[in-house]
Formats: sequence, structure tokens, C-alpha cells
Amino acid sequence: MEPTATTAPALPRSIDEIRAEFPILAREIHGNPLAYLDNGATAEKPLAVLDALDNYWREHNANVHRGVHTLSEEATALYEEARTTVASHLGADRREVIFTRNATEALNLIAYSWGRTNLEAGDRILITEMEHHSNVVPWYQVTQEKEAHLDWAPITDDGRLDMDAFAALLEKGPKIVAVTHVSNVLGTINPIEEIARLAHDAGALLVVDGAQGGPKLELDMAALGADFYAVTGHKMYGPTGIGALFGRRELLEEMPPFIGGGSMIKKVTKERITWAGLPAKFEGGTPPIGEAVGFGAAVRWIDELGLPAIHAAEAELTTYALDRIAEVPDLRVFGPPAGDERGGIVSFAMEGVHAHDISEILDRHGVAVRAGHHCAQVLMERLGVPATTRASFAVYNTRADVDQLIDGLLDVRKVFEL
Ligand SMILES: Cc1ncc(COP(=O)(O)O)c(C=O)c1O
Repeated sequence: MEPTATTAPALPRSIDEIRAEFPILAREIHGNPLAYLDNGATAEKPLAVLDALDNYWREHNANVHRGVHTLSEEATALYEEARTTVASHLGADRREVIFTRNATEALNLIAYSWGRTNLEAGDRILITEMEHHSNVVPWYQVTQEKEAHLDWAPITDDGRLDMDAFAALLEKGPKIVAVTHVSNVLGTINPIEEIARLAHDAGALLVVDGAQGGPKLELDMAALGADFYAVTGHKMYGPTGIGALFGRRELLEEMPPFIGGGSMIKKVTKERITWAGLPAKFEGGTPPIGEAVGFGAAVRWIDELGLPAIHAAEAELTTYALDRIAEVPDLRVFGPPAGDERGGIVSFAMEGVHAHDISEILDRHGVAVRAGHHCAQVLMERLGVPATTRASFAVYNTRADVDQLIDGLLDVRKVFEL
């Protein structure tokens, strides 16, 4: 259940104290304090992560798993400890957590390994109109290859999944349903438990793109009902180059490897190769060791603050932002109204001004936002716009950041003489 404003626990430290843990937030941009509102693209990193990375590279760096010297054993222990941290954060078994480069690679792993093995001509995969390209392209590729069909569940005008249409598409019997937990454009939080129940009743497996859910929502794989769940470290206050795929053990056991090479084999002879057990089977080559250590530190940092408290703080700020943004004339704001179904993402379009121009003028005010199609071109088409400007919040954002955004938007209107 999502926390409500009245029951959500408070953060254990003040926002000022939390902000002080992020050195980059002290930057000035064009003479203005930085208002970093591009967290949907990547989050800034707290000292806990910077220190863990520094410590790993200075004190423990070695390759993992194959060394019998002290540093290799230390690096292996740190790498596997990070897996344990991520697994416990997701309510999963360690063998069910595969480290990948990012959410994109995690989703490709499923499409290539599960999809190529199990899909046949005429089969169906069901995705939604609000998917990021990372949860579109791999399914497009595998359905093309297998002569299978890709179905698109529509969204409502206020940016929610159209559950009636979704249920109707399930009747076509897809083998896989792939849905984002939180839309990176609309901020919509999809009802994953319900989607899981419906998908399973229809005989489909559920893949959840958790790139935006990971930093915002408390995750328990069993409660959620996802068969696969992809997260990406850099949006969860961790480093780039590291993500994770949760997969139910029975499924991962049956799936062939994704990337062939060192570490993922049990035995190689000229005649035959057998695969390592989980999770090594899916981690061919030297893994991103330092990055995984940094990711583990980020997840510990998030868990120490508590996701219900992080979510509540962001929800409060989103409500404030939606209220204040309504003061700016001629803005079209996308996504559901403030509340439990909305994460801290606010996308908008200004009549007569391109999103890139808005973003550039906001930058002069020290406000970092994202402009473009946000890797969601099908959604842009559905919304009837080529691009949007997106402000996306993290736990360290304040009302002052939002006020700076609004001042910047009012300036955009002046510059364009609106
Ligand atoms: C909803 C969603 N899915 C997937 C991704 C891909 O994440 P990554 O580039 O870290 O793989 C993003 C990144 O913006 C996203 O917002």
C-alpha cells in the first residue's frame, strides 16, 4: 500500500541535513543556486556513496571470484555484500538478483534470454503507451524476430493506464506483460499488484520496469507479484554503470545465459559448455565491481532514510509544485492529479515555446530540468506534443527549488513576450 500524507513516517534528518550530504547541491549555476530537478534522468550522490566508491577504489580494488589473494577476497566480499543489500531491499533471494549495467540491460536480458527461448510465431507481448524505450525496443526486437505481436495498452486522458482496455488486451493471451512501475513522463504510479493479478490470471508473466519506481517506492517482490523487476543504480542515488534485475528463481533457472564469457560457465570443453549457477550464469565477464559497491551503499542510505518517508516528502513537494505551476498561464501539465497515484515527476508544455528553449532559460536561473521526448515517443504521440519539459524530484528537493522553477517559467513568458 502507498503511504498517505497522514500516516507516512517523517525523514530521520532535516532536509537541510540531507542536502548537506550532497556536495554537488552547493554548486552555483550562472550565479544562481542550483535547483536540481532532473532526478528522473539521474539522481545526485550522497557522501555515503562517494565515500564507499572512494574506499573501494583506494583500498580494495581487485577482480572478483577468481583470485585467492587478500584484495580479491575483499573485493568479492564487498561485491557480494552489495548483492545481499539489494536482494534484501527487494525482498528477494540473493540468487534472484542479477547485476546488470542499468535497467535497460536488465530488460534486454529478459527479452533476449526468456523471449528468444519461449516466444513463437503468433505469440503476443503486451506493453503500454507510457513505456520508456527501454521497455519497448527489446520487445519490439524480439517480437519482430519471432514473428510475434506487440500490443499496446492505452492510457486515459489524465495519464493513467486504461484498465478496461488493458483487461481486454489480456484476453488475447499475451505471454509477457511489461509495464513501468512509475511513468518517467507522467509520474503515474501503476497499480502493479492488481496488474500482476490480472496478468497471472491471464497466464502471462509480469515484467516491471522499476527504473523510476526504485528510487521512490518501497519494494517487496512477493507482495508486488512481479516475475521480473528491473532497477537502475544511478537513479537510486548510486553510480552509473550498475543496475539489477530481479527474476523469480524458477524462471531464471530455466533461462539460457544472456552474455557468454568468463565467470558464467561451470565447465568448458571442446565439445560442450555448461553454465554456472545463479546469479553467475547471467554475469559474464568482469562485473562492475566498484559500481556495485557504490550501489549497495546507495541502497543502504535509502533504507536508512526509509522509502515511505522519501515518498511522502516527494509527494508533498509534488502537490506544492502542481499548485504553483497552475499559477503559470498557458501551461499544459500532464499526468494524474496529485495524490497516491502520482510520483514526484511533473511534465508540462508551454503553448508556443519549445521545451528546449524553456530548459535553456531555466538553466540561466540555475534550474536543471529535462526537455525532449524522454525516450517515450509513443507517449508523446498520444499526448499530441513533440516534447515536454520535465521537473523531477528527489528527497533533497525543497519548496525553494520549486519557487526557482516557477520564477524561471515566468521569465520564459517574458522572454517570449507571451
Ligand atoms: C521508466 C524508465 N525506464 C527505463 C529507463 C532506463 O534507465 P537506464 O538508462 O538507467 O537503463 C529510464 C531512464 O530514464 C526510465 O525513466
